[in-house]
Amino acid sequence: MSNRIAYTKPSITELEVAYATDAARNGWGERCYDYIVKFEAAFAAHLGVTHAIATSSCTGALHMGMAALGIGSGDEVILADTNWIASAAPIVHLGATPVFVDIDPVSWCLNPDRVEAAITPRTKAILAVHIYGNLCDMDHLQDIADRHGIALIEDAAEAIGSVWKGRRAGSMGRFGAFSFHGTKTLTTGEGGMFVTSDPALFERVLTLSNHGRARGQTRQFWPDEVGFKYKMSNIQAAIGLAQVERIEDLIARKRAILQAYRSRLALHQGVALNPEPPGTENGSWMPTVVFDRDLGITREDLQAAFKTADIDARVFFHPLSSLPMFDDVGGNGHAWDIPTRAINLPSYHDLTDQDIGRVVSVIERLL
Ligand SMILES: Cc1ncc(COP(=O)(O)O)c(C=O)c1O
Repeated sequence: MSNRIAYTKPSITELEVAYATDAARNGWGERCYDYIVKFEAAFAAHLGVTHAIATSSCTGALHMGMAALGIGSGDEVILADTNWIASAAPIVHLGATPVFVDIDPVSWCLNPDRVEAAITPRTKAILAVHIYGNLCDMDHLQDIADRHGIALIEDAAEAIGSVWKGRRAGSMGRFGAFSFHGTKTLTTGEGGMFVTSDPALFERVLTLSNHGRARGQTRQFWPDEVGFKYKMSNIQAAIGLAQVERIEDLIARKRAILQAYRSRLALHQGVALNPEPPGTENGSWMPTVVFDRDLGITREDLQAAFKTADIDARVFFHPLSSLPMFDDVGGNGHAWDIPTRAINLPSYHDLTDQDIGRVVSVIERLL
């Protein structure tokens, strides 16, 4: 049997299997949306928002949400340079320009001062991505958005379980987008969710999500505009519903794993894990360690050491502005520097204390 420790994998119980089996056996014809409707309602209730639309991916949810806000050619959307390409791609597909700003060295999320400095008459939105479960400074960003009359939107793909002053990540912006990819805290294999408490925005995205066919349109097969098709299937939603019913446990386990890493590494100076500032909870999707420069531990050292130990650890996101399709923003010092001395650690729900010990000992050998 392999001794390999995987990076992430889902937590699937008999409940998911039972719901998916029921959907496969019975969820057709008049019942073909039953699990989708239940999953959307349960997820909206968990977040404390009024509307949710299940999608095939977070990328699709972001694409439709930004289209619904009217973001298009000539517009700019500000986001952190430290990000997965999925947050920037929909901006490009809409003909707008992603503007990459530097991150805060503690939260690894958007630095609000850099956001303020990047605003131009073309700025349409700020995209707050809560990276690895860490929260953006939502109060500061909302204040900037309000003063400039632009939208604050949330990419909460990595932030299920994260809470900012009593409000769940994804529930605070004009809209939020989630991912249920197989690596996420809550999974449907592939999948996502658009959420909002703005009824007009919800109607707009609902129409766009149905190939431009509005709810009130009585003519059959009559789209009023060109829309999108980013729908989730009923079978995926069946798995999603089971996962939402277990959400408190799924989140608690992720938080316990981060806490275990934190306490085992607490003795060591210069080793920073995902922060949890007062008044917040970190959903702990991805435990990540950043080493002080003085320690001289590089990404390459970390990758080699984990590979030798048969542990699947991943590199911290490259700055998007370093990718070939975007222009360099070398002034984004933290976004360019932190990935060179950081690593993501394994964190799937069934990780044992012994596994955590194995991961920690690789780090301790390097220290
Ligand atoms: C921050 C962030 N945004 C968006 C996405 C895209 O999610 P999906 O694969 O569901 O489109 C991911 C997925 O990894 C992500 O981490």
